[in-house]
Amino acid sequence: MPVNQPPSYRVGPDSFDTDNARLQRALDRYDEGKGLIGGDPNRRPRWLNPLPAEPAPAFRLHQSSETQLERLQIFLGSAPLEIEIGCGPGDFIINWAGQHPERHFLAFEIKLKLVNRIIKRARRQGIDNLWISDDDARYDLPRLLKPASVDVFHVLFPDPWWKPRHQARRLFVSPFVEILALLLRPDGVLRVATDVPGYGNALQKVIQTSGQFSQHRPELAEKFADAAATSRQAFCDKINRPYRFFYFTKQSLTT
Ligand SMILES: C[S@@+](CC[C@H](N)C(=O)[O-])C[C@H]1O[C@@H](n2cnc3c(N)ncnc32)[C@H](O)[C@@H]1O
Repeated sequence: MPVNQPPSYRVGPDSFDTDNARLQRALDRYDEGKGLIGGDPNRRPRWLNPLPAEPAPAFRLHQSSETQLERLQIFLGSAPLEIEIGCGPGDFIINWAGQHPERHFLAFEIKLKLVNRIIKRARRQGIDNLWISDDDARYDLPRLLKPASVDVFHVLFPDPWWKPRHQARRLFVSPFVEILALLLRPDGVLRVATDVPGYGNALQKVIQTSGQFSQHRPELAEKFADAAATSRQAFCDKINRPYRFFYFTKQSLTT
C-alpha cells in the first residue's frame, strides 16, 4: 500500500448476531487476555517491529522504558484527557488534537504501520499533545489510567467482528463498557460511530445494560461539530453508506 493511501475498507452485513454462550466463555477468560489482538502483551517479542525511538510520543506498556512511561504519566495527568480507541490512520485525532492545544490526547491503534504514519503526520503538523500506542487498548486502559480521569472517549467505526469465533475481539461487550465507565469522569462523554446498524443496536443495549451511562444524547453532536471525518467515515460518505453517531454521558454521582 503506498504510504499515504487510506486503508481499504469492506462493507459487511448490516445484521449482527451474537452467540451468547460462546461470547460468555471468552469473557470468562477476559482477564487472561482472551481475545487480545496480538496475543499476550507480556510475550510480545521486543526485537520485532520496534516503535519510533524514544522520546517520540509512542509507547507499549510492557516494552517502553521507565522514563518513557513516566513521561507518559505526566502527560496523562496534566490536562483534560481525550482518548480514541482504534484510530486507524488518525484523520480525526490528529486534526482534533490540532484544534485543541489545551487538551491532551491518547490514541490506540494496533496496526504499527498506521502508528508510524500518525507520529510522522503529527510531527510535521507541530502537534505535541498526542501520544499513541499499538497495544490492544482493552489491555492498557485499566492498567494505565486512574478512575474518573478521562473527559471523552471516541470509539469511531469499531470493527464489528461478525464471525462467532472472533466475537471475543469486539470492543462493545460488557467488560469493556465497565472499563470505560470506570475511567470516564462523571458527565464525561462516550462518542461512538458505526455504519453497521446491527452493531449500533447491540452497542446501545450493552451500554444501557451497564446502568452507568445516559441514554443517547444527540444534542452533544454540537460539541463535536468541527471534528474532522475519520477515514472510514469518508469512505462511507464516498459510497453513500449511512452511519450513525451516538453520544452517551457517564452518570454523575448524584444521579
Ligand atoms: C474499522 S477501523 C476504523 C478506523 C477509524 N476509527 C476510522 O473510523 O477510520 C477500526 C480500527 O480499530 C483498530 N482496532 C481494533 N481493535 C482494537 C483494539 N482493541 N485496540 C486498538 N485498536 C484496535 C483496527 O486496527 C482498525 O484500524
